[in-house]
Amino acid sequence: MRAFGLDLPSDPLALFERWLDDARRSGAVRYPHATCLSTLAPDGYPDGRIVLLHHFDETGFFFMTDTRSEKAKALAHCPRAALTFYWEPLERQVRIRGDVAAATEAEADRFFDERPRRSRVTAWASEQSRPLPDRAALDARVAAYDARFAAVEPIPRPPHWQAYRVVPRSVEFWQAAARRLHERIRFTRTSDGWAAERLAP
Ligand SMILES: Cc1cc2nc3c(=O)[nH]c(=O)nc-3n(C[C@H](O)[C@H](O)[C@H](O)COP(=O)(O)O)c2cc1C
Repeated sequence: MRAFGLDLPSDPLALFERWLDDARRSGAVRYPHATCLSTLAPDGYPDGRIVLLHHFDETGFFFMTDTRSEKAKALAHCPRAALTFYWEPLERQVRIRGDVAAATEAEADRFFDERPRRSRVTAWASEQSRPLPDRAALDARVAAYDARFAAVEPIPRPPHWQAYRVVPRSVEFWQAAARRLHERIRFTRTSDGWAAERLAP
């Protein structure tokens, strides 16, 4: 099938890699890896927030977060999620839906080590999504962990900071076009690969 001006690859990963690379190389997207992670909260309401995609390969799309956070509670309740990328300067959107599983400890360690040192301290200091009495309480925790890790390199990964893997069931690519006749191609996983279909805008 021809789509987006090229012969459509049979695997959505190849196209995703190309689009992410386009977003990165454009220089116009500050966080090309930022994606909206949507989950279903235990109260039955959907919830969405931005996370950074750390890595992707044939096994899935990986992000990291605090296991005590709202999103982690949501994923423990319902291990399904959507990732939505929007690269505004390129007028492209990618929607990924799939099942979520914990990544391995080795994968989590590897992604954690890629984070800047200050972000690694923050992962220790911040009890993500817990109410804070005031800003000073957070600043005090950051100061305490700065001191604790002053002579430590590399900073180890906190046990509550984990990597999650979204195993895609469907991946939809959207490219804006004139007259709002946008181009949409959705890949759906089949028993032996992927099937692609064109959708009306
Ligand atoms: C650009 C950007 C990148 C972010 N990256 C992450 C991330 O990789 N992991 C994370 O846990 N939160 C990240 N956040 C913060 C989340 O959006 C969110 O505030 C936090 O994870 C708490 O969400 P929750 O209460 O739904 O669990 C990021 C926010 C922005 C705006």
